Amino acid sequence: MSIISPHGGRLVNRWRDQIPEELPEKRIELDAMALSDIELIANGAYSPLTGFLDESDYHSVVENMRLADGTPWSIPITLPVTKEQAEVLDDQAQLVKDGTVYGVITISNIFKPDKKREAEKVYLTTDAAHPGVKKLLERPDYYVAGEIEVFERSEREHGEQFYLDPVDSRKLFQQLGWKKVVGFQTRNPVHRAHEYIQKAALETVDGLFLNPLVGETKSDDIPSDVRMESYQVLLDHYYPKDRVTLAVFNAAMRYAGPREAIFHALVRKNFGCSHFIVGRDHAGVGDYYGTYDAQKIFSEFEEEELEITPLFFEHSFYCKACEAMASHKTCPHGKEDHVILSGTKVRELLRNGEKPPKTFSRPEVVEILIKGLQEKPETVKG
Ligand code: ADX
Repeated sequence: MSIISPHGGRLVNRWRDQIPEELPEKRIELDAMALSDIELIANGAYSPLTGFLDESDYHSVVENMRLADGTPWSIPITLPVTKEQAEVLDDQAQLVKDGTVYGVITISNIFKPDKKREAEKVYLTTDAAHPGVKKLLERPDYYVAGEIEVFERSEREHGEQFYLDPVDSRKLFQQLGWKKVVGFQTRNPVHRAHEYIQKAALETVDGLFLNPLVGETKSDDIPSDVRMESYQVLLDHYYPKDRVTLAVFNAAMRYAGPREAIFHALVRKNFGCSHFIVGRDHAGVGDYYGTYDAQKIFSEFEEEELEITPLFFEHSFYCKACEAMASHKTCPHGKEDHVILSGTKVRELLRNGEKPPKTFSRPEVVEILIKGLQEKPETVKG
């Protein structure tokens, strides 16, 4: 059995070794989300996308979770600009952030989206308090579409060894002899429940691709540098070295729940994962999505369309009566025996320097989180 094919059949590569001798005159300033998106388009993580969605792909993704040619794609990848900018742009523009030219876009069209519709369909809410919707509404009102070429990489904040392009992870999995690889998305520290479902999955596959999202997240999520340190300590102590690869997923978090679960799975397929873990309220926030909506959405696609196999897990927890990690599927005991803490509660404990129970999170992880958060108190409000 060979490694899974990239989504759409071919791994996209939009990296260019050199800056073109002549750059277009017009410039588009990127925000953090767009900067991470151009890198993920360039390295093929977003295959088959070769640029920002044009109007017909955009409508098709928003309405049907598919590109115009029918290929599944659930999150619109867009490049917003203001009306004033839209009026002066022509056929090409530099893609710039903070004075650095990262790439060039060849503009196929510019259109004004119906953001309310996008919010309703993609986020399943138009509530501006939803962090993904808030971001959508804050970004400028016109979308620039077109293929991109990228010649500069963004700053490596987490150590070069954790940055793998899909071509690298695919090569690595082959070298390691991993045929079945399970991908794990997270924007949190790895607590006991995460470890439990990762290891349960690992029992039936060859390797675990621990792929934490390190792009933009909401301000009260635990900062990625603190998380990266906590993952390394956990892996050092409790995971077999030859069965786990830790690499960053440099995307912004959308908090789009079910739609984002599909997107997360497709991207991990491009990295070479044959399986993908979807647990409780994947990519959710607040009470916007049902606990298992991000699992149910997979039934809207044929298996052959996605190819990557989702592995669904029930809400898991430590049960004092079982003296083990468990879920409602495997444990007969009541709530009083279950150690369940909300993200808000855990952050509150950590912020106050208090340790969540050992049955919730490993002491080595907790120590790093408390230390890291005390060094950055402004990031743990709320
Ligand atoms: S996410 O926004 O990246 O999905 P998080 O880092 O909390 O958030 O979750 C990572 C993965 O673990 C997701 O697939 C999520 O559904 C799953 N997960 C998190 N906590 C639990 C839990 N207690 N039980 C089962 N699955 C969980």
